[in-house]
Amino acid sequence: MDALPDLVAAVRTALSTVQDPDLHRDLVTLNMIRNLRIEAGVARFDLVLTTGACPVKQQLEDQCRSAALSVSGVTRAEIAVSAEVPKGTDGKNVLPGVRKLIGIGSGKGGVGKSTVTVNLALALAKTGARVGILDADIYGPSIPTMMGVNRQPQVVERKLVPIEAHGIKLISIGFLVEERQAIVWRGPMLVGALKQFLSDVAWGELDYLLVDLPPGTGDVQLTLAQNAPLAGAVIVSTPQAVALADVRRSVSMFQKVGVKVFGIIENMSEFVCPRCGHVEPIFGVGGAEREASVMHLPFLGRVPLEIGVREAGDAGTPVVAARPDSVSARAFTAIAQRVAQRVSIAALSSPEPMPNEQSSNEPTQPTETGMPA
Ligand SMILES: Nc1ncnc2c1ncn2[C@@H]1O[C@H](COP(=O)(O)OP(=O)(O)OP(=O)(O)O)[C@@H](O)[C@H]1O
Ligand SMILES: [Mg+2]
Repeated sequence: MDALPDLVAAVRTALSTVQDPDLHRDLVTLNMIRNLRIEAGVARFDLVLTTGACPVKQQLEDQCRSAALSVSGVTRAEIAVSAEVPKGTDGKNVLPGVRKLIGIGSGKGGVGKSTVTVNLALALAKTGARVGILDADIYGPSIPTMMGVNRQPQVVERKLVPIEAHGIKLISIGFLVEERQAIVWRGPMLVGALKQFLSDVAWGELDYLLVDLPPGTGDVQLTLAQNAPLAGAVIVSTPQAVALADVRRSVSMFQKVGVKVFGIIENMSEFVCPRCGHVEPIFGVGGAEREASVMHLPFLGRVPLEIGVREAGDAGTPVVAARPDSVSARAFTAIAQRVAQRVSIAALSSPEPMPNEQSSNEPTQPTETGMPA
């Protein structure tokens, strides 16, 4: 016998007491509960998260189950958990199939942006997300090497078809420009190439497109910020003072052009000797975390200096795939969850300031709804 409509309503009411801990709103309001139906005491519904990398996936599922079972007449709850990354609300439609475009930047070169990009990409893909990488580092494209790719992309119907490696779609500006030529490129050529890049690639449907940016605050970053619907940027730094000074410049550049900074990742935090286990903080530890707190930005986590990271990068299989149990691979996985979490929060947070949100992140910018943050 089918349940009475008021039993469905009662379960919906019970589910509306479950809050998303980041978005501070209930799951029913957030449209995360779908297809609720009840048959012979069994409540069935979909729990649609904003990312497969949701760090509180299990907690939310458990809370939904308890809420449903708290309604008298419900004896069992069957929950289908899935994820749907929210679509961008930006009007600039240069990348129609891409839900979230995320820049990976740094103030200084050589701090591990490309390493972070490939490993975050693989960690996100492991959660079921569709992920792409755009290697926009014209001066030193290293994504093809790190992903083990040395083919040229094909052109089909006047669009470049990304190359797939480790489940990730990728395009590198290095595929298109000769290394020596790139170095002499200046502003307008660079900007032109990048714009073409943005609109001439057949990305298909992607949940996340990560952009590996060149270091610093030059034309590439500005072109991207002005021509592409960036959801935001992540900044990579090593912990020492010289790198941190550049982080400040980088953050301020993104904020000036209206790009949200999701947070800071500290790379190469400490060296763990593979032989004796001795921990040596070569570049210091915790500098990026302190800097994040000074700038009121989320700290997204730290990755140790591990030989395996470099070896995996050189061998073309990022450490997240090559050695998933290593300290660094686990660190990248946790960081990917935090990045996905910040992206979801930015996409869905209400115009009112959130209790735990640091609104000083973007003091003068409007939010996506046009209301002051
Ligand atoms: N956590 C780590 N442990 C060990 N080696 C690392 C780590 N992170 C990065 N590396 C290595 O350091 C080198 C520089 O890293 P990477 O190329 O990712 O930096 P980058 O910021 O992209 O540099 P560039 O500014 O030149 O683009 C690479 O050889 C990489 O394998
Ligand atoms: Mg790089």
